[in-house]
Amino acid sequence: MLVLGIESSCDETAAAVVADGAEIRSSAVASQVLTHEKYGGVVPELASREHLRKIEPVVEEACRQAHLTIRTVDALAVTEGPGLIGSLLVGLVYGKALALSLGKPLVGVNHLEGHIHAVLLENKILRAAGKPVREAALPALTLVVSGGHTSLFLAAASSHAAYAITYSQLGRSRDDAAGEAFDKVAKLLGLGYPGGPIIDCLARHGNPQGVDFGRIKMRGNRLDFSFSGLKTAVLYRVRGTELAREAEERRAWRRTVERPGHDDLRAHCSQATLDLIASFQNAVVEDLVERTLAAADICRVDTIFVSGGVACNSLLRQRFFEATRGQGFEAFFPSPALSTDNAAMIAAAGYYKLQAGERAGITLTAHASHPLGRR
Ligand code: KG4
Ligand code: ZN
Repeated sequence: MLVLGIESSCDETAAAVVADGAEIRSSAVASQVLTHEKYGGVVPELASREHLRKIEPVVEEACRQAHLTIRTVDALAVTEGPGLIGSLLVGLVYGKALALSLGKPLVGVNHLEGHIHAVLLENKILRAAGKPVREAALPALTLVVSGGHTSLFLAAASSHAAYAITYSQLGRSRDDAAGEAFDKVAKLLGLGYPGGPIIDCLARHGNPQGVDFGRIKMRGNRLDFSFSGLKTAVLYRVRGTELAREAEERRAWRRTVERPGHDDLRAHCSQATLDLIASFQNAVVEDLVERTLAAADICRVDTIFVSGGVACNSLLRQRFFEATRGQGFEAFFPSPALSTDNAAMIAAAGYYKLQAGERAGITLTAHASHPLGRR
């Protein structure tokens, strides 16, 4: 079954063709980074306009890469939420119109479910290529960690229908998502946008124990997350100090160069700034790993999925592998291209839903807030 996936929940317009939820025939992503860069974050109205400009060429590109026409796909899967409502509507309405006019089955996919399916899809691709990796089997404790979300779910195969998956939410961020904290700290330090990949690279040159941020304490559900306090702690370390003056200079310099390389950026950072960056990243990563392992322990599952843009983070990957090795857990990550927003994960999730008998009709609509599973 060839499924065309469409994703437009935030700042990437994406379309992909996936065969049987297991083989990526094409994956096209139009990033809006250049549009939002100067604002240090996604501007919703600009995002919607960009999606409108890109949706048709991106879908065409996905069909072209897969050597097929839109008429030959078997079904469509579109992201229905959560996300920016104007952005979501562009992909959803486009996909719905295509499906209805072509008489093809259609399903709506929760964006977070898509991120979880990215892990299953990656695992199928690696195994089909003969790579010596274990099967990523459910039940799994899943951490979805991106610019918009930091959530823990238990994903399990439903006993009611083949291919159906049930999700129970165990924890979520009460304020900033982890990726949002990376982006805001990078903005505060005049490093550029998006902050996650920049901090990831620069942190390698700093001392992760240079600044002691302490552990993040949570009242109530200890599987919830909170990163705004850490972000504020970074702000207090910077405000009114030499670090603030340095950040201002860096900001002025960055306005004069189009896309500085990491070595260039590093040369514009003092050791104190690099230590601050490394310590911030370390505090976020330690918190994510600790709460995820605690959740896996509570649920008595040994399989852990980590997905979403922040899953690209090299320290996060390293710490998860270190923390799980020899502890009876196994951690699975998608490749970086499948970790950040893409439509292959939406097509793969859609395939499972279609196989489980789900179909969406004319009433399918977008939801800015769209909880996944039971709480
Ligand atoms: O999943 P995604 O593409 O979009 C959302 O659904 O939010 O995630 C984007 C987020 C951004 O906040 C970006 O800074 C972060 O993922 N990110 C990273 C890294 N690569 C992307 N954060 C930390 N380290 C990275 N290497
Ligand atoms: Zn996402």
